[in-house]
Amino acid sequence: MADAPSGLSEHLVAAGAFSEGERNAVYRAIETRRDVRDQFRPDPLPDALVRRLLEAAHAAPSVGFMQPWNFILIRQAETRERVWRAFHQANEEACRMFEGDRRAQYQRLKLEGIRKAPLSICITCDTTRGGPVVLGRTHNPATDVYSTVCAVQNLWLAARAEGVGVGWVSIFHEDAIKAILGIPEHVKIVAWLCVGYVDELYDMPELAVKGWRERLPLDKLVFEEGWQDCEEM
Ligand SMILES: Cc1cc2nc3c(=O)[nH]c(=O)nc-3n(C[C@H](O)[C@H](O)[C@H](O)COP(=O)(O)O)c2cc1C
Repeated sequence: MADAPSGLSEHLVAAGAFSEGERNAVYRAIETRRDVRDQFRPDPLPDALVRRLLEAAHAAPSVGFMQPWNFILIRQAETRERVWRAFHQANEEACRMFEGDRRAQYQRLKLEGIRKAPLSICITCDTTRGGPVVLGRTHNPATDVYSTVCAVQNLWLAARAEGVGVGWVSIFHEDAIKAILGIPEHVKIVAWLCVGYVDELYDMPELAVKGWRERLPLDKLVFEEGWQDCEEM
């Protein structure tokens, strides 16, 4: 390998651990972030705040620095209504995939805040960005979508720190939403996020609060040195 060109070292900056207060803030955002469906306030988010959330998303890692994301901001109630209808149809289909008590329990869940949250952000992945050969993506094309998910999580955590709730909606046929927003063929929808101020959040995942599913014990998910047999979870 060639030696690093001179002049690069001026870009190396100190990178020690954060102060205790800063560390606590980071862990607090991670631990108290929630998926929000119903607690949204109707007041609009200031443009500067939305910009900070988008800057956080845009700071995410990406394969080959591909940055395959776009952020489509949807504020118009009419568009959100059309997207809600697409959700509703898909949700009825999803409901029928469960049987008996589980179906009744599913029906009681609220799984979106599309009409209630004042802002929706559709985050997409342009699979062609950076050309046909992208560094690091050569053996796993899905890494472009993984990158976009990193952007979603950055935005979600920044939102928590700002007192803003985020709810991820994935229950829809992708083509239905692509048609509503005019998204081209080669671009994938990764996330539909409902975004708005919140005054309250659940202290654990809403699906756990409502008895749908519990958090798994971390110790059962950590293996040493290789895969280990594990019970069905
Ligand atoms: C890829 C992805 C898709 C999701 N889709 C939905 C959805 O369509 N509707 C919904 O209510 N929640 C959705 N969620 C939120 C999860 O249900 C939620 O993250 C999980 O129950 C844990 O709760 P928490 O995020 O509050 O910790 C989604 C989350 C992810 C990561």
